Amino acid sequence: MKLIYSPASPYVRKVLVTLKELGLEDKVEFVKVTTSVVDQSDVLAAANPLTRIPTLVMDNGKPLYDSRVITQYLVSLAPSCGFYPESGEARWDVLRLEATAEGMMDSAVNARYERGLRPAEKQWDDWVDGQMKKVHGALKALDGEAASFGDGINAGIIAVASACGYLDFRYGDMGWRESYPALAAWYAKFAERSSMKETQPPA
Ligand code: BEZ
Repeated sequence: MKLIYSPASPYVRKVLVTLKELGLEDKVEFVKVTTSVVDQSDVLAAANPLTRIPTLVMDNGKPLYDSRVITQYLVSLAPSCGFYPESGEARWDVLRLEATAEGMMDSAVNARYERGLRPAEKQWDDWVDGQMKKVHGALKALDGEAASFGDGINAGIIAVASACGYLDFRYGDMGWRESYPALAAWYAKFAERSSMKETQPPA
């Protein structure tokens, strides 16, 4: 299979951490692209009609996207890992956690695009503030759940770690650790895993 990726994306990091944790890296050809909404990669566009990273092209030539679909596919290759529990409350807990983390990434990335890509005179401050309010809403919810994460790992937890890592990458002066100490304490330990260290976004 082939992963079309860009290392700055938190969605990509989620897939990369999953690949490493499942020991599937050797089965993947990595194709790095540079892409944005206003300068879209032709390689990516040829594989994914939405031109979004990450895109995983399976060995049968068919593409998978978005990151949640890709991680479900990867977990299907290692079914005993339990990263997505089969059923019951545990399954919904993991899916909710993953959705919270992905929503946090969406808002953080949206605000970053507004500030980083849009001409200054066209930027909409209230919209950016609204996106960051959603980021704080997610952080608060995750802080309330972090004590239950323990030393465990699943698809939700990997998504949370990737979202926290993105805040450190793009919002380094935000100081989220002071306001959300339980999440910060859990993340400090999880970030020590080799899968996290080896997938740090570029400086
Ligand atoms: C970023 O550079 O912040 C970024 C890149 C790709 C996807 C999302 C965010």
